[in-house]
Order: sequence, then structure tokens, then C-alpha cells
Amino acid sequence: MAAKQNARTLLCALLFVGELLLAGSLSSQGMRGTIRKESFGKTASGAQIDLYTLSNKKGMEVAITDFGATVVALKVPDRAGKAADVVLGFDTLEGYENGTAYFGATVGRYGNRIGGGQFAIDGNTYTLPKNNGNNTLHGGVVGFNKRVWKAQEIASKDGESVEMSYLSADGEEGFPGDLSVKVVFTLPADRNELKINYTATTDKDTVLNLTNHSYFNLAGEGNGDILDHLLTLHAKKLTQVDKTLIPTGELRDVADTPMDFTSATAIGKRINENYEQLVFGKGYDHNWVIASGGGKGLTLTLAAEAYDPKSGRKLDVLTTEPGVQFYSGNFLDGSAKGKGNKAYGQRAAFCLETQHFPDSPNHPNFPSTLLKPNSVFHSRTAFRFSVK
Ligand code: GLA
Repeated sequence: MAAKQNARTLLCALLFVGELLLAGSLSSQGMRGTIRKESFGKTASGAQIDLYTLSNKKGMEVAITDFGATVVALKVPDRAGKAADVVLGFDTLEGYENGTAYFGATVGRYGNRIGGGQFAIDGNTYTLPKNNGNNTLHGGVVGFNKRVWKAQEIASKDGESVEMSYLSADGEEGFPGDLSVKVVFTLPADRNELKINYTATTDKDTVLNLTNHSYFNLAGEGNGDILDHLLTLHAKKLTQVDKTLIPTGELRDVADTPMDFTSATAIGKRINENYEQLVFGKGYDHNWVIASGGGKGLTLTLAAEAYDPKSGRKLDVLTTEPGVQFYSGNFLDGSAKGKGNKAYGQRAAFCLETQHFPDSPNHPNFPSTLLKPNSVFHSRTAFRFSVK
């Protein structure tokens, strides 16, 4: 009798251990997302371009190409669990090669504008191509967004990662120093977030300002404008600009102006007001000064929150950078046909470009964008999605 009892106990114990092992192996399988590599075609000059699609088990998928280290698609669920692609872009590589709006791209060597297309380091003046009136915008005529990057799938402890690297040669677009840049895109297995980690080194003193230029519409790309989206910017000041969108040097309080997004406000509520800064930008196209001064070291700080009340999708933008360029898609005019041949009209999306301030090399009072040999540049940004 006792022997039978013991055998039964042993059997139960074995079954229990078996179940634990099974659960363990299933959950470690469940932990992992997937990464798929496919051809995205060839550039006009014949370079092979690929598309890497990362997905997790929480319903998020992000596609990134080595052309411009560009985010091509980003699918996240709405409050009913239905996924939509929330970034503007093109179906084909050709769209990105010919495009002028920087959809989803990694922008560099210097994101946003450098006034008069020049700056000096230690008394040496560097002259850049002017591609925006009298100014240089987003790294010049052929910025990082138009370069072919080297892609590599890399091991990551919390999800799937693809690393993009690019060597920007000394003198490219007028900038000094061989600059080696790495951008790692990670989709964590356990949450709907795109993490972007930047590192760079140089062999001569140089300046750099790297950002990602994704255009978001939380209702889904091509689904109308973003004027009803609610936006919060954790910033009390912005860098005041002149009519060519070059900072005057003044950090202006946003209180009592249409630039105040310290509490959630519809993007469209004040966008057409006759306020000089809005007139200059044809809407919002300004750098807000993140109240905390940016993350300390590698610690992220919450810079911005955007929410689409209809779909329930919410985007939190976290960064180590001191500024964020909120651009309300003012220059989109429907002329470029996007995914599914959709025309993206004015304000069909918004950008939250985490960055150092525009024209910093010409403003000693701004946080420095100088990078010296023997030091490593680090910057991190996370686009975190949820539903409300
Ligand atoms: C940034 C600039 C804008 C515009 C867009 C891309 O946001 O500040 O003026 O160039 O990029 O079109």
C-alpha cells in the first residue's frame, strides 16, 4: 500500500517537474521575437539594399533598411488590438532614393540647420553646401539619409537588434574628420518600443547631431492629418528662431504662447494662429528645450507624449538628448506618393526628432555638439507605444 502511495507521489512529482520544464522552454521560446531579412532592391548605382523586419510577441513589427538606416514601417496595435503602420514612407527603395522629406531616416552628420552653411572649430572655418536657402539642412546635399549603411544582425539581451554602421569620410559634405557611426535598432521582446542607440568616434575634432526622422500618424499612415492628436512636450522653453529657422540664441519661455505643450493639447488647436514663430515655421518646426536638460549619461528622460484619441495609440518619446524638434509636417504637400500610392498631404504626420539644438556650432551658449578624437559619442532614444 505504502509502496503504491510512494510510486504515485513520485509520478506526480515527475509530472510536475516535466510541466515546469515544458513551461520554461515555452516561455523562453515566447521571449524571443523574430528577425527577417529580405532584398529591398538595388540603388540606381547598383548597390544591394536589404530590409530587416523585427517582430515581437506583443504585436509590434518594425522594418528597417540599410539605405539611410531608415525606419520603413512600424506596426503597433490600437486599443482593440488591431495593428496599423504608424509611420509614413514608401513601398520601394526608389521612393527613398528620390524622396526629399527624410521619411524615417537617420539624419546626419548634423541634424537640422547650420546657419550660413559654416562654423569654426579652434579658428578653422568649415564651409558646408547650402541646401536650404542660405543654410545647411540635415547634413547637406547627400546626408546620412542617402548613404548605404552596413547592416548586421547582432545579439541583444532584451530582444531583436540590427546594427547599422557608416564611415563618413573626412571632408564629406564639408565636415572635418573620418567619423565612424553606429546606430543599433532594438525591438524588445517584452514591450512595444523601438530603441535607437547611437555611438560615434572621430579622428579629428568635428561636430555631429544625429537623429531619427520618423513621421508618425498614430491613426495609421495615410489616414488623414494629425491635428486631433494630443501632444505633451516636457519643455518650458524653445530655441527662438529667425525667419530662416536659425536660432537667434535666445531660449524663449513657452508659457502663454501657442508653443506651450506642457499639458496635453491638440496639435491643431493653435497651429494657424498669427504668432510670429508659427508664421516662420508654417506651423510647428521648432526645437523644444527638454526641461530636465536631457538624460544624464545614458539615462533616458521622457521628452514628449503623443496620443490619438480615436485609435487609443499613445507614443512616449524618451531620450538622452537635450532637445526635441517638433515638426508638424508643414512641407508635406501631397506631391510625393507614399505607401499604397497614398498622397501625404500637409500635416499628415508629425516628427519628434530628439537632438542637440540646431546651429549649436555657432552658439557657444548651447550644449556642445563637438566630438573629439579619443572620446566616444553616445546617444539614446526610445519610441515607446501603448494604448489608452
Ligand atoms: C526638419 C526641419 C524642417 C524640414 C523637415 C523635413 O524638421 O526643421 O524644416 O526640413 O525636417 O522636411
